[in-house]
Amino acid sequence: MTAPQFTPRVFSGIKPSGGLTLGNYLGAIKRWSDMQDDGYDSTIYCVVDLHAITVWQDPADLRDATYEVAAGLLASGIDPSRSILFNQSQVPEHAELGWIFNCVARVGWMNRMTQFKEKAGKNAEKQSLGLYAYPSLMAADILLYHATHVPVGEDQKQHVELTRDIAQKFNNDYGVDFFPLTEPVIEGPAMRVMNLRDGTKKMSKSGESDMERINMLDDADTISKKFKKARTDPEPLPETLEGLKDRPEARNLVDIYAALSDTTPEAVITENAGAGWGQFKPALADLAVAKLGPISDEMRRLMDDKAEIERLLRTGSDKAREIASPILRRTYEIVGLVR
Ligand code: AMP
Ligand code: TRP
Repeated sequence: MTAPQFTPRVFSGIKPSGGLTLGNYLGAIKRWSDMQDDGYDSTIYCVVDLHAITVWQDPADLRDATYEVAAGLLASGIDPSRSILFNQSQVPEHAELGWIFNCVARVGWMNRMTQFKEKAGKNAEKQSLGLYAYPSLMAADILLYHATHVPVGEDQKQHVELTRDIAQKFNNDYGVDFFPLTEPVIEGPAMRVMNLRDGTKKMSKSGESDMERINMLDDADTISKKFKKARTDPEPLPETLEGLKDRPEARNLVDIYAALSDTTPEAVITENAGAGWGQFKPALADLAVAKLGPISDEMRRLMDDKAEIERLLRTGSDKAREIASPILRRTYEIVGLVR
């Protein structure tokens, strides 16, 4: 368990590596916004641009994605007067602590990371060294703020566990109780939103076909079309949740519905038992449009004023550094680096 001397503090990050998806919204962003009201000492949210470049990013696209992601966070209710919102590269302490952690983490630990294996596939030798070391930079993102809680989607669980391993090894090696053992916060019905064309694959920003994901900037017609064309099976919705076993596409649509309407998959099934897809899909599309429409309108408005986004990110970075810099300074002392 996290030692009591650590004040409850939230940190999470998101890569500016393409447009935001419904998976990002339900798995992460929506909860980041809710957690602002949950009594934490602080909530810190970071656009992790240094993580994005672990795979090739066209510089102009990277810049655009950074504005888009920042606008998406703001439009979803992240309030810069209550949270610290910034982009990672403006706080050099992340890369500095990342190096220290490269010297704490073991190669064997990295070799177990499933996300690297999935992303690298058979081409591991051709991947950047950064992609391989990425989880140790992620640990630095979190521990640089002594964050105790990290709200993420299911796919990031292993990386948060590695963060605990790094904290523990650092504390043991140096005989200190300096870094907290961070908890992942993975809760709600949509911690793993699946691809609309294949219910066994995660919905992601970079999937091959745009039809497999809902983008936060999709308009109402596009959202309706994508849900209508989403793959399903011929069976109607069952009477109980049990009946969705081995029906990944059906289960995914029910989970999305539950998350968007702040209820549980059980309640969605009870309400829609026996409904056919011709009935359920349009209802789901209407719900998604009602929830995402106002957010995407606000995103577009914010993205028109890049100077304002830059100003917010700079102010956020200054606030982040106020917390990060003393923690890095103390880390250097513990390690024995002369300053
Ligand atoms: P990324 O886009 O990989 O930077 O992810 C940012 C956040 O969104 C992380 O907390 C992810 O776990 C979450 N996330 C991304 N895709 C999904 C998905 N399909 N379902 C649930 N959460 C997701
Ligand atoms: N690795 C996360 C992802 O791909 C993004 C991330 C980077 C992150 N640093 C973080 C998430 C720190 C939580 C905390 O989604």
